[in-house]
Amino acid sequence: MTTIQTTVVLAMTVDGKISPEDPTAPRDFDAIDYAHLEYQVSLADLVLVGAGTIRAESGTFTINDLELLAGRQVRGQSDQPISCVVSRSLNIPSTLSFFKQDVERWILTTRAGVESNAEATTISKLADLIELGDTDLDWNRAYTIMAERGIRKVVALGGGSLTAALLQAGRIDDWWLTIWPIIYGGQHAPSPVEGEGFIPAIAPHLELIETRQVGSELFLHYRTLKGQKL
Ligand SMILES: NC(=O)c1ccc[n+]([C@@H]2O[C@H](COP(=O)([O-])OP(=O)(O)OC[C@H]3O[C@@H](n4cnc5c(N)ncnc54)[C@H](OP(=O)(O)O)[C@@H]3O)[C@@H](O)[C@H]2O)c1
Repeated sequence: MTTIQTTVVLAMTVDGKISPEDPTAPRDFDAIDYAHLEYQVSLADLVLVGAGTIRAESGTFTINDLELLAGRQVRGQSDQPISCVVSRSLNIPSTLSFFKQDVERWILTTRAGVESNAEATTISKLADLIELGDTDLDWNRAYTIMAERGIRKVVALGGGSLTAALLQAGRIDDWWLTIWPIIYGGQHAPSPVEGEGFIPAIAPHLELIETRQVGSELFLHYRTLKGQKL
């Protein structure tokens, strides 16, 4: 294992949803959670984002706060962390605003994704395409490549499928979960961890290491217990 630290940063409703049933439905801007997210992202060398999220949101999160940008400069980091999208299929339309943002772009994908996508050549000119397996993504190789390229701190921004894959690969060190004081409900609205789920006997356990409350909003910091990093 490399020494890369991986922190998941996600926000969910009180009923455990990271998105409403209709992910395109407009939402109120949440300045408190935004500031928290911006701070956490400002610590990252690289942010990991699932392709579902980039397809839903079109662009990637970027830091604007001048103090946070100055902090990155002091630490010798680039203005923005590398934005790294994870996509087995490489189904990431080149028209997304992600490809126009002023960030370094990587895409972790598979050979099958590259071979089946007519846009692969176009995308390879817009982002660093990294093939990590024929049909399944090899997370050990992903982390070796990141370490070789000097990445020390990864912040995973979801969604639920990406988090499930990272958890399954034993790569999550700690979690920042925001609890929004709202309820979305909905049978198909995603939660922080999707995938196939765990039976209780082998379900990962966490330890609560820090809490903060701002108004009705809660920020919970957990670490994945040793031996539970799967
Ligand atoms: N509240 C929050 O904090 C928060 C944060 C992030 C996202 N969201 C919301 O969550 C929703 C998206 O979540 P989601 O769970 O549907 O999608 P997601 O995790 O963002 O993306 C899923 C996609 O990522 C790729 N992927 C995931 N694991 C992989 C693996 N091991 N190997 C290769 N590719 C892998 C696949 O892409 P391909 O299909 O291209 O193969 C998969 O379909 C959106 O509505 C978004 O707005 C909320």
